[in-house]
Amino acid sequence: MKEGIAGKVIYRKDYTTYPWDIKQLDLHFDIGIETTTVRAQMEFSLKQGPGTRQSIVLNGSDLQLLSISLNGQELTEEDYIVEAEKLTIPDAPSSSILKTEVKIHPSQNSALEGVYLSGEFLLTQCEAEGFRKITWFPDRPDVMTTYTVTLEADQSAFPVLLSNGNELDRGELAGGRHWVKWDDPFPKPSYLFALVAGDLALVEDHFTTRSGREVSLRIYVEEENLDRCEHAMESLINAMRWDEERFDLEYDLNVYHIVATNDFNMGAMENKSLNIFNSKYVLARPDTATDVDFQGIEGVIGHEYFHNWTGNRVTCQDWFQLTLKEGLTVFRDEEFSADMQSRAVKRIRDIRDLRSRQYPEDDGPMSHPIRPDHYSAINNFYTATVYQKGATIIRMYHTLLGEDGFQKGMKLYFERHDGQAVTCDDFLKAMADANDVNLDRFGRWYSQSGTPQVKVTDHYDAATLTYTLNLCQHTAPTHDQQEKQALVLPFAFGLLADDGQELPLQLENEAAGKPGARLLIMEEEQQQFTFINISEKPVPSLFRDFSAPVKVIYDYSQQQLAILIAHDTDAFVRWDAAQRMAETAILEQRKNHSENTPMSLDPSLVKAFRGVLSDRQADPALLSEALILPDEDYLAEQMDVVDVDGIHAARCFVKKALANELMELFKQRYAEYNDGQPYQKSAQSMARRSMKNVCLSYLQETEVGESLASAQLSSSDNMTDTLAAIRNLIFMGSPVAETALADFESSWMDDVLVMDKWFIMQAIKPGRETVDRVRKLMDHPAFSIQNPNKVRALIGVFAMLNTTGFHADDGSGYEFHADRVIELDGLNPQIAARMASAFNRWKRYDENRKALMQNQLQRIASVEGLSADVAEIVGNALQ
Ligand code: PHE
Ligand code: ZN
Repeated sequence: MKEGIAGKVIYRKDYTTYPWDIKQLDLHFDIGIETTTVRAQMEFSLKQGPGTRQSIVLNGSDLQLLSISLNGQELTEEDYIVEAEKLTIPDAPSSSILKTEVKIHPSQNSALEGVYLSGEFLLTQCEAEGFRKITWFPDRPDVMTTYTVTLEADQSAFPVLLSNGNELDRGELAGGRHWVKWDDPFPKPSYLFALVAGDLALVEDHFTTRSGREVSLRIYVEEENLDRCEHAMESLINAMRWDEERFDLEYDLNVYHIVATNDFNMGAMENKSLNIFNSKYVLARPDTATDVDFQGIEGVIGHEYFHNWTGNRVTCQDWFQLTLKEGLTVFRDEEFSADMQSRAVKRIRDIRDLRSRQYPEDDGPMSHPIRPDHYSAINNFYTATVYQKGATIIRMYHTLLGEDGFQKGMKLYFERHDGQAVTCDDFLKAMADANDVNLDRFGRWYSQSGTPQVKVTDHYDAATLTYTLNLCQHTAPTHDQQEKQALVLPFAFGLLADDGQELPLQLENEAAGKPGARLLIMEEEQQQFTFINISEKPVPSLFRDFSAPVKVIYDYSQQQLAILIAHDTDAFVRWDAAQRMAETAILEQRKNHSENTPMSLDPSLVKAFRGVLSDRQADPALLSEALILPDEDYLAEQMDVVDVDGIHAARCFVKKALANELMELFKQRYAEYNDGQPYQKSAQSMARRSMKNVCLSYLQETEVGESLASAQLSSSDNMTDTLAAIRNLIFMGSPVAETALADFESSWMDDVLVMDKWFIMQAIKPGRETVDRVRKLMDHPAFSIQNPNKVRALIGVFAMLNTTGFHADDGSGYEFHADRVIELDGLNPQIAARMASAFNRWKRYDENRKALMQNQLQRIASVEGLSADVAEIVGNALQ
């Protein structure tokens, strides 16, 4: 990689071990909002053994050093070197005690890394490299040690003082001050350190582990949110039980703390026994949170809990191994949610998410393998690739080895590596050794970026009753990597007869046919499978359950897709066939639109949708997934040069035409599910609401839309139905929409989380006028550019989800957005970099838009003192 504007690049191949062990770290915090003083004492011992000397290298950033001593000797500036966020003490004795004292300034910290202020309380965020903003320390995940932490503060402002592990002791001090001492017996890397200090209220429950350990579960929130913690607590208890049952993993301490904050860069953080959560993933009440929010909470609570084993007990050697903990933990949380809710629906949503976020990432300027080879700012690598594609690769181990084999591998992984900082190779080896298989070739998934395409062709010979399937895989060169190799692809599939029956499969070398699906393994670039005794020309059902993260190219006829939609036994294939059919229909109309030919509706799509709407057997949640048309971004990915307006027009046309054609059915199903039953949290009620609201979103295109949405709004007893109704009113341009928004605003003005939804609804409205509205909303008292949730809701949603607004061909959206990136970079580089990535696909647009976006990228790049975070994103995009 060229250096470009991104500055220093760190390479995976340059990894070296840290020469010292640290036996113990004692921290003392004198807590204050403006200034906090941190005293640290650590015991260094040279790995090589006694006698020799070595320099001690520490990381630190924005620290005001008050004093430093080595083995009781105060050091002066001649005794150490400070450069580029590093402090080096040359020639330290092999056994050394280092003491430091620094000052930090939490209230001035707008990057939300290190110690910072949220509302009236202080908290920390250390992953990946935030600990260096707290004290001088080797801030890298392979340096693990035990911590004791003493927090001292004013008792009335900071009655709650939390850190990792168990509370050891507490006491009072003169002047209304107090202290609490914490001890974490498990050695941990610095990124898992946390503290919280403030006046927080508490919801408490408990869990008894299988072996009888009593664990006290505490969720800390601001007082007014005490009545919104029930679902999070229930999710936590479910997660603890599930991990025992499915993975044989138990919790290992007597306390588990969760703290909710409104100011957080990410979703949540798995600090040992002191998780810190974006309040979005804790707080929920039916009138404030949607079904999607409830499901998100369950997933994220599970995710952070599961990290206790996959991430904390066994952690990463270096940040290149991030997917070791994240891919695996996402896989675990996906499985948890699948076991709690409907597995098929969960799978489809995860697959849709992967294809719409990760595929474009892997095809763009930030393309990287799930285990990257280099980075400039590690924060830029908390990506859909490392997380979601990483989880898919873990899922492939599971597909290849089966549940038993996978669990054997997990067991060996923990036996070998508990308490260690390890690599993705160590995980692969545990899986391979436990199952006595060779997974070397499978390991290519860790080092290769890009989405493989699998071209499938087939031939049926009626005379010999043979059917031949030809698979050819190809991964196109990506921005980061030219050469690609063949990958191991688990290939789950079946063959359907015209009447939808599954045909028995018999490979040419097999004695008899076997009913049902097959799992074959593709390892070569090209492979052929021949089946005999196939009684008729079959419809192939390919990569069932999305058995590998590939793009499947097969020339399905609409007729074949109709058979799959109606009959396939695999929910993913059924859904995917519906998506393909809709995609074909919309892209066809896009073409008509660009050629000024009248658009028309594909009758096979009408027929298929009629079938879906008439299905009274299937889970309504699944049906609703099938009725959601592919989104504009996904459609854009299917074109060589994106036609923003054409895609929008064609999708709107198809949706409206379907709605009018099938209006009676949509109305019927809507009425059926809009049955006036009071709100319930169950999966079943959620499924009914999702079907109801998908029907409503079609009916919005018809003459009954406005009255139905208005009626739903006034009778709604939950946020899911309320939001769906208002969104529909907004999208149909109804005058009622403004009143609805104003009412919503006055009801929820003081509620930060609910107001996020109010901003989202307005930012997402298609059309070029929206940019002005978004600009005005930035002055709204509930908006703050310093708050990541607000930035994501208003600015992020506009740039990433509003295609016609952001891509307005006069460049107004681009210019507005670039201004925001520049403004944010001075405050919070991590969030600024996320926002900057909205320009990543610029090369795929028409000449006009391309030039406009390039201009904005160059304008950002030329800003003086640009953060490494934004510089890396923008630098890659411009390359
Ligand atoms: N490790 C967190 C998770 O996936 C994500 C995170 C990364 C949070 C960096 C904050 C900062 O659960
Ligand atoms: Zn995680």
